[in-house]
Amino acid sequence: MADLTPYEAIGGEAVVAQLTDRFYELMASVPQFAGIRAMHPADLKESRDKLFMFLSGWLGGPDLYVQNIGHPMLRRRHMPFAIGEAERDQWVACMVLAMEEVGIEPAMRQRLLQSFFNTADFMRNREG
Ligand code: HEM
Repeated sequence: MADLTPYEAIGGEAVVAQLTDRFYELMASVPQFAGIRAMHPADLKESRDKLFMFLSGWLGGPDLYVQNIGHPMLRRRHMPFAIGEAERDQWVACMVLAMEEVGIEPAMRQRLLQSFFNTADFMRNREG
């Protein structure tokens, strides 16, 4: 297992797709995530497709975002949205639930949680 990428270890494209679907379904349905849901467009399909492409490369699989859209420049792309600790924590909590629900095993979940938290924390652009 040690030399598998996270992408391979969690089950490849099918599981990354399930994870992304579940992430946005939870964001749209769990009241705790209403704050970040409201920042997104009414139709979440494009958000879902972009996150799927991004996570594919970020987890060590095909770099679909770069191939289809270009350099992610994630921090810059998040500047239009006011992201503080509350928004960061909602995003990460939503992803943790999605990881649990698609059955990513606890050790891998813990490892990915660290990386998701660091990336989400880097996106903060407002105090509080
Ligand atoms: C910290 C809390 C975060 C909030 C509140 C947030 C919110 C948003 C919003 C409102 C959009 C625009 C959606 C759209 O245009 O369809 C977006 C886009 C995106 N987010 Fe986040 N996000 C957060 C963290 C993250 C993290 C941690 C990642 C990656 C691990 C990520 C990856 C993306 C990607 C790939 C896009 C699409 C960028 C584009 O092509 O326009 N976001 N995010």
